[in-house]
Amino acid sequence: MPDATYAATTSAPTAAAADFLRAKVQRRKLSLVTCYDYTFARLLSKTAIDAILVGDSAAMVMHGHASTLSASVELIRLHTEAVARGAAGKFIIADMPFLSCRKGLAAALDSAQSFMTAGAQAVKIEGVEGQEDVIRGFVQSGIPVMGHVGLQPQSVCAYGGFRVQGRSGESAREISRQAILLEELGVFAIVLECIPASLAHEITAALRIPTIGIGAGAACDGQILVLQDLLGLNLDFRPRFARPFLDGARRVLEAVAHFDEAVKAGMFPASEESYS
Ligand code: KIV
Repeated sequence: MPDATYAATTSAPTAAAADFLRAKVQRRKLSLVTCYDYTFARLLSKTAIDAILVGDSAAMVMHGHASTLSASVELIRLHTEAVARGAAGKFIIADMPFLSCRKGLAAALDSAQSFMTAGAQAVKIEGVEGQEDVIRGFVQSGIPVMGHVGLQPQSVCAYGGFRVQGRSGESAREISRQAILLEELGVFAIVLECIPASLAHEITAALRIPTIGIGAGAACDGQILVLQDLLGLNLDFRPRFARPFLDGARRVLEAVAHFDEAVKAGMFPASEESYS
């Protein structure tokens, strides 16, 4: 039995990093989505999804930047707080933003601390090379770390665009090596972004920890999508992996058009929508 004082003052998430490993052992697929705000977080708290990522994609999706490089520690902290207020009970992972793991372990720990105290239960780190000590230091400090290899959007300037990775033998071997190294460093799961399905299959089979795919085929142990892509809210952005599960943009436009028409026709508000 948990101590009564402890139980009363903590709200344990329904899932934890260990559940990711259990899911792989039990061959249960994991579903994750990104979220950046309180309203959607409340809705997601009523679903069966396994975890929420407060991704640095917030810089693009919520703030209109051209890449994720503009996401700052403060921005991710603010979005994490909002999500945590709405999605109590969900396992929340916060993205370590561009360069936040490149200024030494102490600075990286400060950033992670601000995310964990804002309500995250884990962080995600893009890439491995040069960040081994940070990843090891986080894991030793009790911070669950999710890895991220394949297309690393924070390296968009080095790639010269958002490009599928791992198509050449050399690149595929390098991504496999990074995934194995991440497992050795103690991460609890790895995002595989935009790599050939066959490569994701090989990596998934080689690892004890689960792989979470985005543009990496069906063999991954789980899948993640940006919530706004899943809801079909983007009119002009549709990468091939981002299946819209709702015609969201059309539905929103229709609703707003109905409101506009009702207002202009004097049909809104009705008497029962007004106070006496
Ligand atoms: O920031 C993000 O949304 C991500 C996912 C695409 C995995 O890193």
